[in-house]
Amino acid sequence: MRTAIHFGENSLNRLTEIPYQRVLIITDPYVVESRMIDLITEPLKKAGKEFDLFFDVVPDAPLDKIAAGVRKFLEYQPEAVVSVGGGSAIDSAKAIREFALKINPYAHVAMIAVPTTSGTGSEVTSFAVVNDTEHHVKYPLVADSLTAEEAILDAELVRSVPPSVTADTGMDVFTHAVESYVSTAHNEFSAALAEKSIEICGVFLLRAYLDGNDMHARQKMHVASCLAGLSFNTAGLGITHSMAHQLGALFHVPHGRANAMLLPHVIEYNSEIDKYSRSQKEYHPSVKRYSTIAHVLGLSNFNKVMTVRSLVNWIQLMQKEMNIPTTIQELRTIAPEDYFGAIETMAEAALADACTATNPKTPTKQEIMKIYAKLWA
Ligand SMILES: NC(=O)c1ccc[n+]([C@@H]2O[C@H](COP(=O)([O-])OP(=O)(O)OC[C@H]3O[C@@H](n4cnc5c(N)ncnc54)[C@H](O)[C@@H]3O)[C@@H](O)[C@H]2O)c1
Ligand SMILES: [Fe+2]
Repeated sequence: MRTAIHFGENSLNRLTEIPYQRVLIITDPYVVESRMIDLITEPLKKAGKEFDLFFDVVPDAPLDKIAAGVRKFLEYQPEAVVSVGGGSAIDSAKAIREFALKINPYAHVAMIAVPTTSGTGSEVTSFAVVNDTEHHVKYPLVADSLTAEEAILDAELVRSVPPSVTADTGMDVFTHAVESYVSTAHNEFSAALAEKSIEICGVFLLRAYLDGNDMHARQKMHVASCLAGLSFNTAGLGITHSMAHQLGALFHVPHGRANAMLLPHVIEYNSEIDKYSRSQKEYHPSVKRYSTIAHVLGLSNFNKVMTVRSLVNWIQLMQKEMNIPTTIQELRTIAPEDYFGAIETMAEAALADACTATNPKTPTKQEIMKIYAKLWA
């Protein structure tokens, strides 16, 4: 693991011990307005560190905000960046450091990532998903140099996450674990991390959704998010993510919500099992892995078809329990002509997305278009 992980109660105290004097904090406006930022600046002040703030980060890491952050970085010349927020803030910070050091490689600058959602795992991954708003495409940058040197997992920061964001980001965690578990690049280590993450989601995601102050559940989900990040960092993801990125870029569907909506359809596509399926002599290789996921969640084990169906049913039940829409129509924000008019462009961009390479089945453009069409209603 490239990232040193500090976790548990009071883990933010690590900020008093970091071996850097000049720190640029990159965060989103919510963290500053809610004064959550004090939890970061107090330990820095206590340790006599100098710091400055860039808090112009918005959801989905658009390139113009990243460019503004690069200017700030080059002006301030920090020794370390502390990125605080959800995936959007951490990804923006990762991209800002990467581009700034390409323009002016004056020194090594460390990244300390402090997530405030239990979702992306970005604090430990070499991915930064950015949004090219001019061309309406969202895509992951992937490079080892994007990886943070340190991550601090303090669940106190997640306490204020509202239920709908807990639901969306929690389903992002689950999707990372599932996609990395069935990915063509999985190995025993990535699988172990994914299994633990799936087990925790099964027990604690709904608890965290129902009671945001259930700190035991919050702690568990914060760890599950990081475990899933470690898993997909080596094993990669799949087309749920490739397709979700386009729904984010074009229609601003929150990332985790898009994943939750797509995942049942992608499991049906990959496993070649849907509600009409009968037992078969041979199954697609992904079926065995989806079955293990169902077992980890404690679902049925009668035969392969029923086991994969139970996994799909579990995901759909979680969507209902957490008020996540299951279709695009239910979102009520997208006109049918806009959605259907965009399907071909979205399918082309999803095929080109870096996450597609490790999907257990190689999709055609037509197959991806069909999944987008099914998602409407
Ligand atoms: N780098 C990776 O490995 C990776 C993996 C998956 C997704 N992503 C990307 O991450 C982004 C999504 O990140 P996210 O799901 O964490 O959401 P986010 O960062 O966009 O945050 C969602 C909302 O929650 C708010 N919020 C964050 N923390 C809060 C808190 N503690 N209390 C109250 N509100 C809070 C934010 O202000 C924002 O309005 C997407 O762009 C997605 O593509 C990156
Ligand atoms: Fe994700």
